[in-house]
Amino acid sequence: MSGSGPWWRNTTIYQVYPRSFSDSNGDGIGDLPGIIESLDHVSDMGFETLWVSPFFSSPQEDFGYDVSDFRDVAPEYGTFSDAQTLISEAHRRGLKVMFDMVFNHTSAEHPWFVESRSSRDNPKADWYIWHDGRPGRLRRLPGRAPTAPPNNWRSVLQVRKAWEWGRERQQWYMATFLPFQPDLNWRNPEVRAEMMDIARFWLDQGVDGFRLDIFHMIMKDERLRSNPRRPKLFELDTPHLNTPEHTVNIDDNFELAGDLREVAEEFDGDRVLLGEVFGSPQVLRRYVNRADAAGRRRPGLHLVFLFDFLAYKYSAKWFERCIGRYEKEFPDPLLPTYVLENHDRSRTASRVGGDLRKARVLATLLLTLRGVPTVYNGQEVGMTNTYIPLRQAMDPIARRYFSWIPETISKRMTERLNRDEMRTPMQWDNTAGAGFTDPDVEPWLPVGPDNEGNRGNEDIPDTEDSQDRGGRNVAAQQGDPASLMELYRNLLSIRKANPALRCGSLSHLG
Ligand code: BGC
Repeated sequence: MSGSGPWWRNTTIYQVYPRSFSDSNGDGIGDLPGIIESLDHVSDMGFETLWVSPFFSSPQEDFGYDVSDFRDVAPEYGTFSDAQTLISEAHRRGLKVMFDMVFNHTSAEHPWFVESRSSRDNPKADWYIWHDGRPGRLRRLPGRAPTAPPNNWRSVLQVRKAWEWGRERQQWYMATFLPFQPDLNWRNPEVRAEMMDIARFWLDQGVDGFRLDIFHMIMKDERLRSNPRRPKLFELDTPHLNTPEHTVNIDDNFELAGDLREVAEEFDGDRVLLGEVFGSPQVLRRYVNRADAAGRRRPGLHLVFLFDFLAYKYSAKWFERCIGRYEKEFPDPLLPTYVLENHDRSRTASRVGGDLRKARVLATLLLTLRGVPTVYNGQEVGMTNTYIPLRQAMDPIARRYFSWIPETISKRMTERLNRDEMRTPMQWDNTAGAGFTDPDVEPWLPVGPDNEGNRGNEDIPDTEDSQDRGGRNVAAQQGDPASLMELYRNLLSIRKANPALRCGSLSHLG
């Protein structure tokens, strides 16, 4: 056990969701200059790495996870030069910076896709996954595709197929996530070369690494074989209608991790790749530590998120079992990467009914475990989900697929179907606008009622916890030794000073 090795082995990550972090120009939307102005908070807290969710050019249908130019910045977030300043200002404070690379798909408005969809023989025709349909539609209904999709693949959301009809080409294109996010064809050498160059482009600008969006799904079966049917139509543990054998974590995807690693290693400074990947611990481990077909060891991603904590059960037994499993599958020199909340999943504090005492226990656990902990902006002040009815959602998933669900049901669900609820503005102080934006400006999503403490917030129990009455915002908690934020700060400093907490072994686990 030692505290040495590349920086990423000893780091803590703070995730910033740019749209909601800090609005510098009073348009109600967070931006890069806002992040730059707020960097002191991140470094003063003791976080060491900043992960910034996408801010590249995008029609913002999925708020940046639908990129239309990977080499430029969306105007509402700033300019290319702001991105450069963000990197240099973070570095000036000793912070590392990771950008969020969405390699699986682009926006349907990306010029590549606009060209690709226009005909079957344009120069970008094969940049996306296009295929003829199968015969099978009995009747040609107006507005409906005349053929059936090429196979039974389903989108991540299961509620829809993974294929969309392209009228101009009279073919289907694959969209693993949402219809406006067509999947790139990584089997095309031109696509692969271009995407690797995009990674090099930002590494050249000085970013220290990437968080890789839905990395486990990038390569798909070359022959487009249908996925095997599940013996049971619907299993609650993983609600997949089919076993995603040919679409998720396929062998070629592990090779891709190795190829990307080679690109990262062209640069000095230990650039890091952190995968958003889903699967069993054994499968996830193959992304970081594996042998190729010939039995040679080939390095892949440096880190992969272990997402089980996102759905934790507040019980010592549960955590013991979960951590024990990861300790076994990710022994030193592998590192677990734990995360309690992010921009897609429920806030930690809400999972425990807003109870700050439990949020403190969870913070202590997260920041004293071996590995790389990740904290989502607002988690440090105990922000809870802000209930926003599905029918008012900005989140494209909620709008498209869940707006029919009655509020009485959706309100009670632990898993939040409307991701807006976790994306409300960062709470800096208790002014109108929460210090995120000017008091007279309406932010793109409402400020959470917990900004004012538990007054009027049905999500938070009226406890004797005095710090809560001060509000779940930075100004209220700053300097208050009893606050959650100061606990985070202390834990981060203790972690930094004690290598045993970052990389020490654990024993007596079941
Ligand atoms: C991101 C989501 C995004 C999706 C599609 C993810 O898992 O975290 O926010 O909507 O990928 O890019």
